[in-house]
Amino acid sequence: MSAPIPVGHRLEDFSYAIRNVVAAAKKAEATGQQVKYLNIGDPVAFGFQTPPHLVDAVEKAIRDGSNGYTPAAGIWKVREAVAASYSTSGAAIDPDRVILTSGTSEGIELVLSVLVNPGDEVLIPVPTYPFYTASLTKLGARSIYYRTDPNHGWMPDLEHIKSQIGPRTRAIVMIDPNNPTGAVYSSEIRRKLLELVDRHNLVILADEVYADLSYDEPVLPLAAINPDAPVISFSSISKAYRAPGWRAGWLAVNGGVRLDAVLAATHELADGRLCSTGPMQYAILAALTGDNSHKEAFIDSLRERAEVTSKRLNAIEGISCVPPRAAFYAMPKVELPPGRTDQDFVFGLLHKTGLLCVYGSGFGTAPNDGFFRIVFLSPPSELDTIYDRVADFTAMFRREG
Ligand SMILES: Cc1ncc(COP(=O)(O)O)c(C=O)c1O
Repeated sequence: MSAPIPVGHRLEDFSYAIRNVVAAAKKAEATGQQVKYLNIGDPVAFGFQTPPHLVDAVEKAIRDGSNGYTPAAGIWKVREAVAASYSTSGAAIDPDRVILTSGTSEGIELVLSVLVNPGDEVLIPVPTYPFYTASLTKLGARSIYYRTDPNHGWMPDLEHIKSQIGPRTRAIVMIDPNNPTGAVYSSEIRRKLLELVDRHNLVILADEVYADLSYDEPVLPLAAINPDAPVISFSSISKAYRAPGWRAGWLAVNGGVRLDAVLAATHELADGRLCSTGPMQYAILAALTGDNSHKEAFIDSLRERAEVTSKRLNAIEGISCVPPRAAFYAMPKVELPPGRTDQDFVFGLLHKTGLLCVYGSGFGTAPNDGFFRIVFLSPPSELDTIYDRVADFTAMFRREG
């Protein structure tokens, strides 16, 4: 028999917990357990439809024959619409500094590939969206965690950030509004972060994919604070426009000449992958220039679900939860019995109740800190049943250890 084909070493430490937990859920389903997938932030999976004018725009583009490759950076008028949406929010970004990407994810990966050499370091919040660590692992670079503090609304700890900057640091990732914590950063923190990167000649990778889903006022792009600030912004129509499967997003490079070389290299790398999905670029145009009325109702739904979530979770003995202020995730903490981990809790919850959450250590928190992430996109009445089940299981888990 021939030997198995080996896998590249680069993937040895690659992991993405949000999808990895699905394997355990499938096994549980095979034994007859019904599973409620609260692991992935996909509004469509919970009945929030993609706005019809986006569907029409894609259908029209396909029928009109827009099915060839587009320019690598995307169709010009769509890039103009993206640039215009930044300028409406106070950030002056030229269309030629916008690149259309296959979701926020591809933009992140392109820019990390441009920025880091093997052994370089990128500062990442903990808890983090795990694509950053996964992508850096693949590139042979190091994720260096900086703390965000649940006792201060999950704000970044600036002193800790400062202490983590070293000679190999290339960039700081800021996820605002945040997944998995639901935090929205204060303007003071945002300003101070910019001062810090200026002082150290670093760049901020601003993941702004939830910017339109804050329950209070919209979160402005970080680049709006200062046109010269070294900021690269990433976003998409996956969340606020409820089309995650279309893989349609963009990156926008602020910061003037300081980031010209990075921009040029990103264009070059983007050339090599030809283009993002063409018809879906028309959806971006429809999203940014068309009717936006779905957003208000969506935000109202999210705010209501967030309130149910923090009220119900904080009423459970042994659980505490910082109330989310944006998006559709909460990051509660459970007091674990000695010797038990967040994975024990999450997989116990799956096997006893059929609820699939993601363990905090998948986002970089310590396994014995007891964090887990829950997606709260289900209707409020269903959330009530879900939290009844979480309460019963938590009581049992803490009693039986
Ligand atoms: C913080 C954050 N960044 C990026 C992404 C990926 O988004 P996209 O679908 O635009 O690639 C997600 C998806 O959950 C996310 O939560």
